Amino acid sequence: MRSVAAYAVPALPAAIVVGFFVWFANWIPQTRWQPPQKLTISEAMTPTELATLGATLVRQRGCMTCHTIEPGAGIKGGGRGPNLADIAVRRAKGATGGPASLMEYLTQSLYEPSAYLVEGFSNIMPASTAAPAKLNYEEVVAVVNYLQSLGGRPSVKIGDIPRPAGIAAAAPAPLAASAADPKALFNSLGCAGCHSLEAGKKVLGPSLDAAGIRQAAAARKMSLEAFLGEAIVDPKAYESKEFPTGVMPQDFGTKLTAAQLVALIDYLTGRKP
Ligand code: HEC
Ligand code: HEC
Repeated sequence: MRSVAAYAVPALPAAIVVGFFVWFANWIPQTRWQPPQKLTISEAMTPTELATLGATLVRQRGCMTCHTIEPGAGIKGGGRGPNLADIAVRRAKGATGGPASLMEYLTQSLYEPSAYLVEGFSNIMPASTAAPAKLNYEEVVAVVNYLQSLGGRPSVKIGDIPRPAGIAAAAPAPLAASAADPKALFNSLGCAGCHSLEAGKKVLGPSLDAAGIRQAAAARKMSLEAFLGEAIVDPKAYESKEFPTGVMPQDFGTKLTAAQLVALIDYLTGRKP
């Protein structure tokens, strides 16, 4: 186990005001699409204010692809990762493993998820400072406060936890090789057998050309990444009228590592990893 001090790097100049636009539709299908909004994180914010921003970040940056936040559902909760509801209560009641302090535990979970694996779950979580979440330091602080608020009281100010030091690049090791070649991945997983990448060319499933997926994501009021993540991991979530449902394998969610999922999404969106 590493102590949080292991992440420390010399303090950066206090350029802390971070503005960013929220372009993404909320991941949770029941909530309505919100127009772009500006979130600003400043040093003056209280932990409670930061926790509110953290709640938004967790929903925008793909955490809910794997996690659920469902009070009373227990740690298993039905996602690929632990149910995060009541995580503060769980730790306070003596859930062991990883750093003892809640703040250090949550920080380590975000910076270096493989340092401690929650029992019963596998090593698929990418570091939150790496793709796809790409949280910056201030955003990590906001998310830690939000996680503390799930059963506890948010208490972290900007500066209380160390800045990440080069840990971001660490991806889950086992499948990094295949994730490095997303085209081969797309073929070897059988995607290419059912999906063309050429516009308008239907095979068994819809063409996954750039304009087509963009349109499909917009029709569902979702960000492109969230749409693709859901379509790959949980094809049943959306019943298409044009294509047979239940044909696409339902188990990519358990077979793919996060690195592979991210590589596929990057490949389809044409984004450089
Ligand atoms: C690809 C799936 C995946 C994604 C995406 C993901 N996680 Fe995880 N997460 C897991 C798994 C699996 C575990 C349990 C194994 C471990 O400890 O790494 C976990 C563990 C955790 C834990 C410790 C939970 C506990 O009960 O002790 C926290 C906190 C956490 N994740 C937060 C996040 C946040 C915040 C994000 C988004 C920035 C995120 N995760 C994104 C899969 C994921
Ligand atoms: C056996 C055929 C088959 C395989 C293999 C398959 N798919 Fe699909 N896929 C479909 C069908 C049929 C649909 C449309 C119906 C549905 O959503 O279930 C679909 C839907 C999708 C969608 C939603 C597209 C839209 O415009 O709505 C995406 C994205 C997608 N698949 C990606 C993938 C990826 C990536 C892989 C490989 C990891 C894959 N599929 C493997 C048949 C397949």
